[in-house]
Amino acid sequence: MSWNRVTVSGMYALTVLLSVWMQPISALSIQLIPQYPAVGQSVTLSVTGINGTIKVFSWYKGPNIYADNQILSYIPRATPPQTNGNQYFSRARGLPNGSLLISDLVITDRGIYTVSVQTEKGPNQESVNLTVYIPVTKPVIRANSSLVKENDTATLTCETENAERIAWGRSNGRLPSAITLSNDNRTLTFSSIKRLDSGDYYCEAENVINKIKSDIYTLTVNYGPENLIITGPNGIESLFNLTVGTSLSLRCSAVSFPPPTYHWKHNEIDLRKYDSILTLDLSLKENGSYTCTASNSKTNITVATSVVVIVYDRTLTPETTGLSGDKIGIIIGIVVAIIVVALIAALIYLFVIQKARQKNSNKKNQTTDVSVTPSSGNGHADQYGTENEIQYSSVNFTARPGRQPPSQAEHEIQYSSVNISGRPARKPPAQPNDDSIVYSELRLS
Ligand SMILES: *[C@@H]1O[C@H](CO)[C@@H](O)[C@H](O)[C@H]1NC(C)=O
Ligand SMILES: *[C@@H]1O[C@H](CO)[C@@H](O)[C@H](O)[C@H]1NC(C)=O
Ligand SMILES: *[C@@H]1O[C@H](CO)[C@@H](O)[C@H](O)[C@H]1NC(C)=O
Ligand SMILES: *[C@@H]1O[C@H](CO)[C@@H](O)[C@H](O)[C@H]1NC(C)=O
Ligand SMILES: *[C@@H]1O[C@H](CO)[C@@H](O)[C@H](O)[C@H]1NC(C)=O
Ligand SMILES: *[C@@H]1O[C@H](CO)[C@@H](O)[C@H](O)[C@H]1NC(C)=O
Ligand SMILES: *[C@@H]1O[C@H](CO)[C@@H](O)[C@H](O)[C@H]1NC(C)=O
Ligand SMILES: *[C@@H]1O[C@H](CO)[C@@H](O)[C@H](O)[C@H]1NC(C)=O
Ligand SMILES: *[C@@H]1O[C@H](CO)[C@@H](O)[C@H](O)[C@H]1NC(C)=O
Repeated sequence: MSWNRVTVSGMYALTVLLSVWMQPISALSIQLIPQYPAVGQSVTLSVTGINGTIKVFSWYKGPNIYADNQILSYIPRATPPQTNGNQYFSRARGLPNGSLLISDLVITDRGIYTVSVQTEKGPNQESVNLTVYIPVTKPVIRANSSLVKENDTATLTCETENAERIAWGRSNGRLPSAITLSNDNRTLTFSSIKRLDSGDYYCEAENVINKIKSDIYTLTVNYGPENLIITGPNGIESLFNLTVGTSLSLRCSAVSFPPPTYHWKHNEIDLRKYDSILTLDLSLKENGSYTCTASNSKTNITVATSVVVIVYDRTLTPETTGLSGDKIGIIIGIVVAIIVVALIAALIYLFVIQKARQKNSNKKNQTTDVSVTPSSGNGHADQYGTENEIQYSSVNFTARPGRQPPSQAEHEIQYSSVNISGRPARKPPAQPNDDSIVYSELRLS
């Protein structure tokens, strides 16, 4: 018995060895054409390694050659050659060389297919696993938040189907290094996104049959406003000291995305100016502090900064040098003063002429002494001699007995004296060469 058992075991082992050794000789194999068939396409399950002439071959769904699993059997020399089996479907067709053609593939066509081939050299069989592939759909990138602020956690998801591989890219540069990808590369996460991460991203989904890129997703990182500054004509200044009448342009700027809205205040009063540039035509009213406020509607951040504008009026200060406008004022003052003096002189002249004519017609030997005297003066000679101040305040017209020599021609006009130099002045008729300025003694005889 034990010998028998050994013999049986030995024969079994020999059989196994033989079958392993025999296999390559009659090896059938099945290639898929194309190698990766897709839904909707056709595939040929192409049989190679058939020795001899085919008598008959059959295709089965599944790994076993049970009659119930038969799709079709094919006898090349018969008419018609093909006989349909239990598992037949109209998209399946046998080919004379032993292959099976399946058109218009559907997902449920996937699975094991087995062929059995009978030649004059005997039967043989082989199986193949048919995979029906589905093309990837065009990927779409979605962000889990429509509003991304700097330092937020942000996630982009590449939505696609049937992808075996997903890759991310950026049109305008390399992918940031501070990102993490999920295991399937479907989600890309910025744990703390920065402004430089703004850009155009895409993902690409791929499987064995196709590869498609998503449209560009423009990722926008909102930040700021920061570094708010006010610049004047000469750059950044915090104090402007300017005269009335000058014009001053203040420009407010900040680092921000989106660009901020600006807002100006003067001494905390809203100017209702929303431009980055504020132009001031300076009068004393414009003196004070100017505040620029910048607000970012996306980040909800508002910042403010101020400058002081001191407006001064030169004409109100003691030093009146410099601007031509001031000089013009002074010149106008002088001119007005001269005109006033001239008018007074003209009035005096006219008055005296009038008097003289009256005297003349009366034929009286009188003189009219017109003099400018101190307000309390009575025209007495001693008073001229002692008066040292310039006196304008009153003009006395006095008629007094004539003192001129009778030889003086009638109608001869002499100027009465007006002492405006403050020097002592003698009584005019006796001292015609007196160096004090004598204008106003006018004598009619
Ligand atoms: C069998 O015939 C089909 C259709 O003509 C062809 O595509 C295929 O390559 C053939 N297979 C072999 C092994 O010749
Ligand atoms: C079968 O055919 C192949 C080539 O087609 C050949 O190499 C092989 O020796 C053949 N086997 C037998 C048993 O005839
Ligand atoms: C056939 O191939 C598919 C994909 O390659 C695999 O998922 C499936 O398990 C295979 N089936 C068998 C029976 O090997
Ligand atoms: C976006 O995804 C990240 C990571 O999953 C999460 O931390 C964050 O809260 C999400 N944001 C929103 C608005 O859902
Ligand atoms: C973001 O974080 C960095 C480092 O913590 C910080 O310096 C920066 O001010 C933050 N930016 C914003 C906009 O909060
Ligand atoms: C994920 O992306 C990396 C880098 O792009 C790539 O090497 C890897 O093959 C991808 N993995 C998958 C599953 O798509
Ligand atoms: C402004 O300028 C004027 C003239 O240069 C000067 O007198 C005045 O002191 C200045 N005021 C200030 C506050 O600097
Ligand atoms: C002008 O403004 C400055 C700064 O606000 C202030 O100190 C100064 O008193 C103001 N001068 C006048 C004349 O209002
Ligand atoms: C920004 O501020 C407005 C009004 O104060 C508020 O309604 C809005 O929710 C805020 N937005 C964010 C993102 O904080």
